[in-house]
Amino acid sequence: MLSEKMQDALNSQMNWEIYSAHIYLSMSSHFAQVGLAGVARWMDAQYQEEMYHAMQFFKYINEAGGHAKLAAIEAPPYKWESTLAAFEHALEHEQGVTSRINALADLSIEEKSHAVGIFLQWFIAEQVEEEDTVGGIVGKLKLVGDGGGLFMLDNELGSRVFTPPTKA
Ligand code: FEO
Repeated sequence: MLSEKMQDALNSQMNWEIYSAHIYLSMSSHFAQVGLAGVARWMDAQYQEEMYHAMQFFKYINEAGGHAKLAAIEAPPYKWESTLAAFEHALEHEQGVTSRINALADLSIEEKSHAVGIFLQWFIAEQVEEEDTVGGIVGKLKLVGDGGGLFMLDNELGSRVFTPPTKA
């Protein structure tokens, strides 16, 4: 059984994951507009991944005897100054997600809620990967700038396909 406080915190994270999804979907639209189809595709895969994250919270809250409650989602920005600015935004956003997941893990320890702690372990590891992936792209973008290298990177990013993990 989830405490009221834990249920609210898990619901807040579920809705934040949906907000994350909206940011990436908005980025996908932005990159389609500016003619970087590969980056748009990468962002679409990231959107799907964020919705997968949200659904893990949704299922867990209901399975653990709580009630997954959807909330209003703030509109994300719809354009970015450059490809680098968008990925820097993504990195900053992912660092914020990591802090939120860590705060949830702190709450699970505080409440001695071992089941929630186990559920969150996957997300703790996932955030290391998220920050590493986005941080790596930020690094490459700083190297290539806006020249021809950007089109090679667009090609590389366009090969990404989201495949849901078999176990979460
Ligand atoms: Fe769901 Fe990118 O964190």
